[in-house]
Amino acid sequence: MSGTLVVALIAAAGVVAFVGIIFLLWYCLFRKSISRTSETNSSEPSIQAGGNVELSGGVSYPSGLQGARSFSLEELNLATKNFSSVNLIGYGRFGEVYKGLLQDGMIVAIKSRQAAPSREFVEEVRNLSTIRHRNLVSLLGFCQEKDLQMLVYEYIPNGSVSSHLYGANQMSSEKLEFKNRLSIAHNAAKGLAHLHGFDPPVIHKNFKTANVLVDEDFIPKVADAGLRNLMERIGGASSTSQMIVDDVFIDPEVKHSGTFCAKSDVYSFGVFLLELVSGRDARTDQSLIAKVQNYQDPSTISSLVDSRMGSSFTTEGMKEFLRLAFWCLNTSSERRPPMSFVVLELNRIHEKEISLTTVMGEGTPTVTLGSHLFTAAR
Ligand SMILES: *[C@@H]1O[C@H](CO)[C@@H](O)[C@H](O)[C@H]1NC(C)=O
Ligand SMILES: *[C@@H]1O[C@H](CO)[C@@H](O)[C@H](O)[C@H]1NC(C)=O
Ligand SMILES: *[C@@H]1O[C@H](CO)[C@@H](O)[C@H](O)[C@H]1NC(C)=O
Ligand SMILES: *[C@@H]1O[C@H](CO)[C@@H](O)[C@H](O)[C@H]1NC(C)=O
Ligand SMILES: *[C@@H]1O[C@H](CO)[C@@H](O)[C@H](O)[C@H]1NC(C)=O
Repeated sequence: MSGTLVVALIAAAGVVAFVGIIFLLWYCLFRKSISRTSETNSSEPSIQAGGNVELSGGVSYPSGLQGARSFSLEELNLATKNFSSVNLIGYGRFGEVYKGLLQDGMIVAIKSRQAAPSREFVEEVRNLSTIRHRNLVSLLGFCQEKDLQMLVYEYIPNGSVSSHLYGANQMSSEKLEFKNRLSIAHNAAKGLAHLHGFDPPVIHKNFKTANVLVDEDFIPKVADAGLRNLMERIGGASSTSQMIVDDVFIDPEVKHSGTFCAKSDVYSFGVFLLELVSGRDARTDQSLIAKVQNYQDPSTISSLVDSRMGSSFTTEGMKEFLRLAFWCLNTSSERRPPMSFVVLELNRIHEKEISLTTVMGEGTPTVTLGSHLFTAAR
């Protein structure tokens, strides 16, 4: 055999092996994607399933790809002009909240508190920052220096839903329509459902209207997911029991047992739905929760529903919305629907409302069924 033939044979064998390996890899990937598709197919969300439902638009990155970033104090000093008071945007349970501009142009919200460094803090932050979803405020990273602990979040520019409903900067009338509120409810529900879809589920434990923020396109993002867990783990949750007792968003079962479950978030979500549709603060108007049990009664509807919506909704859609809120507020946690179902139901009501109120074409507010009930409200 000549030398060239040997070389040619070796090369050919190499090519064959290479092609074989590529084929094998391709085959594995292809099979994986097939099985994944059929998984998604077969796991069509059912009422019982507490799984993570993603109907449209939401992005959830594979966990682990987006690690928590460790920020230096120097970097955050620069971003906030040494934590100048002009950048102080609020006070949260964790501590002061500052707005900051990072060197790369990204705007962040920084929560800062005084505490000795701890490993649990970093572990919890690393864990929480793997959770990414279009309807959740992302935790980007942390800073732990000089007896300061800081959490760095993406900054959501347009404030909380509560500030738009009953705060200083209320929504423009354009944004007040029932359909817009349904969209906010549906998307916020997707954020919570994403948390509940983990195994074990991540319980928010502090869901309230003030924790639903909106971006410049009015896409809601749920803030502070997992923060109460983090505070409990690092020992920052000082005497929360009284706060829990006073808090209208907290599941009455939690007020007795002290333990949270996914369904306690569902209760909080029910209170959020009521505030969203009434435009009122449930902390100062506690009759809201009592009233909703008569959601079938037209006079209840007209006394509950925000008069700023005018008559831009159907009685049918409103009843279904209030029925869902009532269901979420059942005093027995077992009776409440899982968030995955709430997402589906809000989507259905929203789609139906759109189709019922736009039959006459673009921009014509078509008022249907029994809207005369609401013209006299307030
Ligand atoms: C799976 O999804 C595809 C595309 O949406 C659909 O054509 C197919 O019927 C589905 N199969 C099952 C078993 O649901
Ligand atoms: C922040 O503090 C550092 C050191 O204390 C100082 O050099 C710097 O000028 C300060 N920056 C601003 C914007 O105040
Ligand atoms: C991370 O979160 C998961 C799900 O909540 C939990 O099971 C796990 O124990 C957490 N890990 C750490 C290190 O906290
Ligand atoms: C919300 O965003 C819009 C568009 O960016 C802006 O014009 C408006 O002032 C913002 N509203 C509030 C309350 O921040
Ligand atoms: C809870 O739900 C059950 C079953 O749907 C219902 O019979 C009961 O009246 C509800 N209770 C409350 C307080 O809403």
